[in-house]
Amino acid sequence: KILIVDFGSQVTQLIARRVREDGVYCEIVPFQKAEAAFREMRPKAVILSGGPESVHEAGSPRAPQLIFDSGVPVMGICYGQMTMAAQLGGTVEGGHHREFGRADVEVKTNSRLFEGVWQTGEQHQVWMSHGDRITQMPPGFSVAGVSPNAPFAVIQDEARKYYGLMFHPEVVHTPDGAKLIRNFVRNIAGLGGDWTMHAFRAEEIKKIRAQVGKGKVICGLSGGVDSAVAAVLIHEAIGDQLTCVFVDHGLLRLNEAETVVDLFRHHYNIPLVHVDASKLFLGELAGVTDPEAKRKTIGRLFIDVFEAEAKKIGGADFLAQGTLYPDVIESVSFTGGPSVTIKSHHNVGGLPDRMNMKLVEPLRELFKDEVRVLGRELGLPDVFVGRHPFPGPGLAIRCPGEITVDKLDILRKADAIYIDEIRKAGLYDTIWQAFAVLLPVKTVGVMGDGRTYDYVVGLRAVTSTDGMTADFYPFDMKFLGNTATRIINEVKGVNRVVYDVTSKPPGTIEWE
Ligand code: XMP
Repeated sequence: KILIVDFGSQVTQLIARRVREDGVYCEIVPFQKAEAAFREMRPKAVILSGGPESVHEAGSPRAPQLIFDSGVPVMGICYGQMTMAAQLGGTVEGGHHREFGRADVEVKTNSRLFEGVWQTGEQHQVWMSHGDRITQMPPGFSVAGVSPNAPFAVIQDEARKYYGLMFHPEVVHTPDGAKLIRNFVRNIAGLGGDWTMHAFRAEEIKKIRAQVGKGKVICGLSGGVDSAVAAVLIHEAIGDQLTCVFVDHGLLRLNEAETVVDLFRHHYNIPLVHVDASKLFLGELAGVTDPEAKRKTIGRLFIDVFEAEAKKIGGADFLAQGTLYPDVIESVSFTGGPSVTIKSHHNVGGLPDRMNMKLVEPLRELFKDEVRVLGRELGLPDVFVGRHPFPGPGLAIRCPGEITVDKLDILRKADAIYIDEIRKAGLYDTIWQAFAVLLPVKTVGVMGDGRTYDYVVGLRAVTSTDGMTADFYPFDMKFLGNTATRIINEVKGVNRVVYDVTSKPPGTIEWE
């Protein structure tokens, strides 16, 4: 096991992710609780995270002395390096504004940390964090890497297995960072690498049971992967203390509602309330064309319907959500500055405050691809687990302009054909998200001998790792041509198909 002491960096979770990728169990503990956690957990190694503070400020956090006394290997990253240096007898100069940026590190000497990755004399790109500065190393330490602005970019005491990095090895902007962490975890700390999602499942089940006790939990299913995985995991932990509520807003894809209901009721035997609220939603959305107005209307109705259903089943003590780690970080901006609302996301927040319920969020530490692995581990079918993300407001935001039942029907059919073609071409898993959009535009065409005046379908497909940035997918023209022909031939009401070649930024993935 590895203990990660969190000093408040925005990217601490990424350290955990890297360690897990190496097949080693780890826990993140805020620095205030680190001493107790260390005693209880008896970890084989400790990683000290970065953080926003300066070691120089009075009352700034420290790592428990116990950790250094215990003799376990320690890796300090950014703030973690500074506090380690200060606590072990070095000198740290403060007062610099903390900033991040690309830098090149020059490797000065051999290190077990660099083994098989970096050679002496080489230069390598890293994501550097400038804030405090070490002016004198603690006794026993030597310099292993320097950068133009950081003479102590990497320091080490190989005898005691202490390593201090001024850069962030956990972020992708440090291309070899994962390998350095792996060296620390596997070679220096000597940990086995046999931890799996199977173990995560067991740990989370224990945590859920401890949190919930005999309480009742309600979970809103959206039809997406995240809420489904969360629900199945929670059900495994507490059985029928969980009730799932599936608010069907009538904006789902072809056969989607049936798939979800079947999966939960028949495959898993999980208590499920299926509310067909499509009339209510589509009624209130009639005439609404502004994207934010659509999102707000759907968000508000969702809360109303969900709350009413919760009352009907006699209330609950906890609300389960499939919140993922990116949802957690996206809500805090990296610089701490004010961030602009691009789109009002529905299904994050709102509900718990209003209903005064505590949250159960077993996926909070996971990334999308890890959730998929967990889903498979829990026996969810591959086709379900591998599904592309689908936004809470559903097809409403893929139907610019006014939403009508007829338009939704056209969109569903076109979308199903498009996805079918993508699956047949073996491209579904390469693409992050693909969908059709129905444009509020009619154009003239000719079919057979007659004139047509029908809708335009836009096709979107993007690659991405987290949905924050994305590139359009470069289909070959033959694929696009075939798909367009099929859609126009098979879907009445469509006579033209276009492909969206915008990346994000400047575009967003969804059209509204
Ligand atoms: P955008 O369109 O902002 O989308 O580039 C980024 C990712 O978020 C999804 N998305 C949503 N997901 N509720 C959600 O749960 C929402 O309101 C929402 N809006 C967009 C989008 O599908 C993409 O994966």
